Amino acid sequence: MALWALAGLLIVNFAVMANAPLDLPTQSFMASGTGKVLDAGAGSGRSALMVLLARPNVKVVALDKFAQEFGIAGNSPQRLESNLRFANVANRAEIKEGDMREMPFEPATFDGALSAYAIDHLGRGGFRTALGEVKRVLKPGGEFLFLTVNRDWYVRIAFPFMHHGYFGPTPAVDRWSAALKEGGFDIVETGYSPGTLYILCRKKAE
Ligand SMILES: C[S@@+](CC[C@H](N)C(=O)[O-])C[C@H]1O[C@@H](n2cnc3c(N)ncnc32)[C@H](O)[C@@H]1O
Repeated sequence: MALWALAGLLIVNFAVMANAPLDLPTQSFMASGTGKVLDAGAGSGRSALMVLLARPNVKVVALDKFAQEFGIAGNSPQRLESNLRFANVANRAEIKEGDMREMPFEPATFDGALSAYAIDHLGRGGFRTALGEVKRVLKPGGEFLFLTVNRDWYVRIAFPFMHHGYFGPTPAVDRWSAALKEGGFDIVETGYSPGTLYILCRKKAE
């Protein structure tokens, strides 16, 4: 038990990096280096910080409903703001409270969007609705970076009882790629980092 706990602790802190800003999984996302990006389900800011730190000329709008769900205690705009200030990037970020299934933005507002471990929480119907909203608020050709939990060995050891991540008969990358294509996106790139599957896609021309 002690060894398992130690392995879990090391994985959470040094592989999955659950308490630090994420590393951008692909340099292809927002490679132009400028523009306005939506983070759908920003939470405490790990994913918004990932983009703000990797792309110093990009602005991020961090959208979240800030409900105390999924065991996330203290999820609030204040905590997000203090994390952005601590990282010295608050001047390039805007925090917006709202539901990603009914986004408070005009069509074609953003050059890029991402959702990390958030849009995939919404069930099949909620996912479709929120993905439709991502598509609506993206400019033509806009990029969408999707990150979800991948039940690799890191996750199986550190979070053996977590009911998150896809573990059906089809490989998760095929299942999520199909859902993104069905939602009007072309797949650009897929890949993995510890505990994570990412899919970079682009809004299809209408
Ligand atoms: C697991 S956290 C991920 C937070 C952050 N993206 C990260 O990588 O650490 C999921 C976030 O999605 C938010 N969320 C869930 N459903 C939402 C919805 N319908 N609209 C907006 N935010 C939502 C939750 O409040 C939570 O902050």
